[in-house]
Amino acid sequence: MLIGKYILSLDQGTTSSRAVLFDAFGGVAGMGQKEFKQIYPQPGYVEHDAVEILQTTLYAMRQAVQEAGITASDIAAISITNQRETTVAWDAVSGIPVCNAIVWQCRRTAPECERLKASGMESYIKDTTGLIIDPYFSGTKMKWILDHVPAARELAKKDRLRFGTIDTWLVYSLTDGASYVTDVSNASRTMLFDIRKLCWDDTMLKELGIPRSALPRVVESGELVGMCLDSVLGEEIPIAGMAGDQHAALFGQCCFGKGMAKNTYGTGCFVLMNTGKAPVKSQNGLLTTIAWKIGGEVTYALEGSAFNAGSAIQWLRDELEIIKTPQEADMLAETVENTGGVSFVPAFTGLGAPYWDMYARGALLGVTRGTKRAHLCRAVLESIALESFDLVKTMEKESGICISELRVDGGASRSRFLMQYQADILNTRVCRPQCLETTALGSAMMAGLTVGVWDNLEELSSIWRENTSFTPNYDDSSREQDISRWHKAVNRSMEWAK
Ligand code: G3P
Repeated sequence: MLIGKYILSLDQGTTSSRAVLFDAFGGVAGMGQKEFKQIYPQPGYVEHDAVEILQTTLYAMRQAVQEAGITASDIAAISITNQRETTVAWDAVSGIPVCNAIVWQCRRTAPECERLKASGMESYIKDTTGLIIDPYFSGTKMKWILDHVPAARELAKKDRLRFGTIDTWLVYSLTDGASYVTDVSNASRTMLFDIRKLCWDDTMLKELGIPRSALPRVVESGELVGMCLDSVLGEEIPIAGMAGDQHAALFGQCCFGKGMAKNTYGTGCFVLMNTGKAPVKSQNGLLTTIAWKIGGEVTYALEGSAFNAGSAIQWLRDELEIIKTPQEADMLAETVENTGGVSFVPAFTGLGAPYWDMYARGALLGVTRGTKRAHLCRAVLESIALESFDLVKTMEKESGICISELRVDGGASRSRFLMQYQADILNTRVCRPQCLETTALGSAMMAGLTVGVWDNLEELSSIWRENTSFTPNYDDSSREQDISRWHKAVNRSMEWAK
């Protein structure tokens, strides 16, 4: 352990850019955060301004360092973890994006996905990339940009177009174009990457018309990939770790052993299970993904993805304006004994695992004249636990492993009500660690291993500490009733936008 040195971890999420400065004991020494604009040009479309993503990241980096009262020379490395699949396209010469980034939640490529399904690509895509055909992934987003943004087509003809997920965009910008890279975990979310051979897949590139020159070099999750410019923090700093946020969270929860799983309650909910050195093909709607590649060794994971979780709480705050803070939803939910018969399905942008319905939309059912905002808040919080229930049960069926303890993290895991209901509905112990910045910590750990702040996984495991655990306390018949009502509501929400 290299005491006295820090890792600055950039956690670029769907609604805010964060930077967390960790010391060698995994303690948080400083933090910065800034929210940015969500752009909804039409129903089902979600965009971000990539320049604003960069600016808010720079702001968060400087704020974290300032809060800790350290200087750039105290930072051993920078690590990057990011909202995955969100796609940026820019000009290699000017470094300027050609259009807004298309966010992972965006449904605009549903017609292209229909085409891929109709052309019989489903099993090839599943075998090669580990993924299900859905607008979620980056490949069809890149094709959409090439088909609809004339400047992108022009740049592609001149070999000047660059595509990237957010990790790539940030590294490119922080190194002033010197490093054009993505890590294996992010690459495995594009629907263009062969997860066994670990290279871009020519068949998929041809199918979607993506030029290879517009794709980054693929690196390990812990690797020295470039130097962050001295204009950012006053001195050059190595960038030594990159991974998609869910993969970083699995690492940060120290799920290093086969069969260990976590659930992150962020904008969406993502359950990932470490499946070891070989990819496991899913038969039940889970994704096969690369967890990370470190020290030349690849670790695979199974993933259950639900697209909306914390975003539903934000919807209560920002669109319905019935709460001022997420904590208020928690407090209100506890003031009523149940939802009063109300069910909510947070399918704002379709349904992910295990349903994969790109046309599903949010549903609110069972509303009566007596429905109060407390019932609504409770229904929203319960829906997050219920969709996680579906993910965990599918994961258990697929892997044949019973998850005896669910490690949780992410913003909404702060909700006492949600975590208790999660334990109740799963009938499983839910375990919340001391450090809830698990995504940022996991990414810091990857960079820390690269630059020698930590030596091995055993040392990292000693950093992980449980803080609170929630034990199930619900009778079987109530549990069964809640689950069956949830599934009835999910069925009603399906194919709504078709
Ligand atoms: O796949 C999308 C996921 O990476 C987004 O994560 O933390 O922004 O909900 P988050």
